[in-house]
Amino acid sequence: MKNFINISDCSSEELREIIEEAKKRKNNRTGLNKSAADNDKPFDGKTMAMIFEKPSTRTRMSFDIAVKQLGGSSIILNPDGIHYGKGDETLRDTAKVLTEYVDIVMLRTSSHKNLEEFGKYLDIPIINGLSDLSHPCQIMSDVLTYEESNGTIEGKTISWLGDGNNNMSNSLIEAAGKFNFKVIIGCPKKYSPNKKILSWAKKNKVNLTITTKPLEAVKNSDCIMTDKWISMNDKVNKSAKKKILKPYQVNKKLMNKANVNAIFMHCLPVGRGEEVTDDVIDGNQSVVWRQALNRVHAQKSIIKWCLD
Ligand code: CP
Ligand code: NVA
Repeated sequence: MKNFINISDCSSEELREIIEEAKKRKNNRTGLNKSAADNDKPFDGKTMAMIFEKPSTRTRMSFDIAVKQLGGSSIILNPDGIHYGKGDETLRDTAKVLTEYVDIVMLRTSSHKNLEEFGKYLDIPIINGLSDLSHPCQIMSDVLTYEESNGTIEGKTISWLGDGNNNMSNSLIEAAGKFNFKVIIGCPKKYSPNKKILSWAKKNKVNLTITTKPLEAVKNSDCIMTDKWISMNDKVNKSAKKKILKPYQVNKKLMNKANVNAIFMHCLPVGRGEEVTDDVIDGNQSVVWRQALNRVHAQKSIIKWCLD
């Protein structure tokens, strides 16, 4: 039994195995309907419980479809509708009960500590469907999407523009260490990556550059990534943060400074006209809709890996 909480918890070999399995399963589905089960139905008779403390479109839909394609079923639990860490039942007891009913749990939470605590009490695997600290499932889908477009990610340069201190940038830096690509973070000093991630990156010899200059961040880049300037539950002065991040907007001018075959990625939801302009996100270098689709394929592989 394995949990999938952070990219940094897994070895490079394990992560590569997950990506290759995703590619194989996706290819094998040619001609099948969107929710039809894969021929081998590896999740037959099994159930995933999903708990969302925060809103979600893609994670909710893609896990549900992933489970269906694996031949299993899923239940979405609204934390307000269950005894989830409230006064009347401890988190530990809720976890014990879920262990009796289902085979795997996915949790989206505002507090990474909740995820770790819940994981400790469960006797079944838990998957991180986004926390304040990391978003590993999205980054796995992004690696898959990059490789479908431009071949192996190893040795490539991925640029991150905007908020350098959020769940996505943290997981991207961890992925750079595990998949051996170069990552350049273009962000203002105030939104530089957090110290813990930086010391992990140093210890793990991640090829990481941080610059406050957007043009420098995209030079020789194979992929430009960004994310919403204001993350869910980001308790900041929104207009002040947006003003500081304005020079890091991904627009045509910036995109044109990257390599000619560079792609544009965004995990969505998007703040159109803020972190990215319409002509970039709707342009022919953008792969954002396939990123969303690939959440299904990457997560099928993650579920399988947890249960194998
Ligand atoms: N990218 C992503 O996690 O989207 P949702 O918030 O819609 O799940
Ligand atoms: N950083 C964003 C990612 C959304 C998928 C957030 O946490 O809101």
